[in-house]
Formats: sequence, structure tokens, C-alpha cells
Amino acid sequence: MDLTLKIWRQKNAEEKGGIVEYKVNEISDHMSFLEMMDVLNEQLINEGEEPVAFDHDCREGICGSCSLHINGEPHGPDAGTTTCQLHMRKFKDGDTIFIEPFRAKAFPVVKDLVIDRSAFDRIQHAGGYISVNTSGNTQDANAIPIPKVDADKAFDAATCIGCGACVAACKNASAMLFVSAKVSQFALLPQGKVEAEERALNMVKQMDEEGFGNCTNTGACEAECPKGISLENIARMNREYLSAAFSADPQ
Ligand code: SF4
Ligand code: FES
Repeated sequence: MDLTLKIWRQKNAEEKGGIVEYKVNEISDHMSFLEMMDVLNEQLINEGEEPVAFDHDCREGICGSCSLHINGEPHGPDAGTTTCQLHMRKFKDGDTIFIEPFRAKAFPVVKDLVIDRSAFDRIQHAGGYISVNTSGNTQDANAIPIPKVDADKAFDAATCIGCGACVAACKNASAMLFVSAKVSQFALLPQGKVEAEERALNMVKQMDEEGFGNCTNTGACEAECPKGISLENIARMNREYLSAAFSADPQ
């Protein structure tokens, strides 16, 4: 395939960016989207130009670091698929592809297609964990009976890879789907219930401080999430938050 790429280039966080057009030729439909980007960068390096900066790590749909807005969709046109798992067979010869970074105030552009998602790390630090005594007396988690339905829901929530596509898809740049997945994965399990109240309060507080928008139940986050995280988690987080807020201030 011969393709035209319209890519967001931005030198650094301070300078203004813009779309620059590139051509790539003889792209195999077996290539992944990021391999196509590698071909472009090799081409740019050979021509003495600066390669396009983009985030990636595992290239297996696990780490959540790849984060491209492809033709207006976070992670591109394939449902339930990260950018690194997207294949070029989804495109056809002669296509023009727009490639931009995820857009949100809380995810500032660092360079080209790389954004700063450390806001998610700070939300995790605010409560996305359980405090376990690891002195050797810890109870074997497998010895604690957990209803299958709860275990399955907790596991589904835990598949969130923290990519930020939910924020990029949302017209309000809300992080509710991400935060609710993190709250839910613990709230459903006995180990997580001990700190459930402070977790919900602290993670929501941090989310607000980071400048993410509010949820207005549009559902774009769920539609674009590569891991199929359900809106049901947002409803659960709202319940967790409300009950925590009432017990913190029963007046
Ligand atoms: S909820 Fe989905 S879209 Fe949002 S960070 Fe997690 S995996 Fe990515
Ligand atoms: S590079 Fe790890 S999920 Fe895409």
C-alpha cells in the first residue's frame, strides 16, 4: 500500500504544533500500525529529518503506553484493539491517515504524539492499591471464598491498561471509566473492602484536582476502550463514593 500520513508534529510542550504530510510506500497489510510508523521513521532518519516521537512499549496490548488518535478515533478504527495491535489490513492503498496525540487538558503534549499521562499515576497513588502485611503471615488469597460473579467482574475491571483512550474519546475529557475500573477491581473483593471508602474518596479527589472533566453518560469511553471496560463500573464507583461521603460526614 502507498499511503499519505498527516501527522501532528510539535517540538515540545511550549511550542505550537501542526499537521505535517508524509508519504510511505509499499506498506504490507501484515504490518502493525506501529511497524508502519517505524518504516516512516527509518525513512525520516535516512533523509536527515527528525523521527516522529510516539509512545510504545509492549506492542502486545498490555502496557497501555501506545496512544494515537487515528482518523479521529483513539486507537483507530478497530474495536477492542490498542494502536499496537491494529494492523495495516484495516487500511487500503491510497488512504490518507490522520495521526494525532490523545487530546485532553490533563494529558499535555510532550512532543509530537507523546503525551504526559502522569495524572493517571497520581490518581493510582491516591488509592489504587491495598495495604497488605507481607511479613509472612499473609493469608493465601486463594483460601478466601469469593463468589464467581464478583471475581469475574473484578477481573474484568482489572484488565484496564491505563491507556487513556476513555479520556480522549470523552467530549468532557472525563477519566471516570479509568478511575471506576481501578476502584471496582478492589471494591468487589474482600481484600479491597477494608480501604474501600478512603480509596473512592481519595481517587475521585485526585481525579478532580488533575483537571479531568465530569461524566455526562455519553458512553464514548466504553465504545472506544480497547479492553471493553463497562460503564457499569462508573455506576459502582458513584455508589462507593456516595456511601463513603455519607460515612465520612453523616450530617
Ligand atoms: S478504561 Fe479502557 S480506555 Fe480507559 S484507561 Fe482503562 S483500558 Fe484505557
Ligand atoms: S505498546 Fe503496550 S499496549 Fe500498545
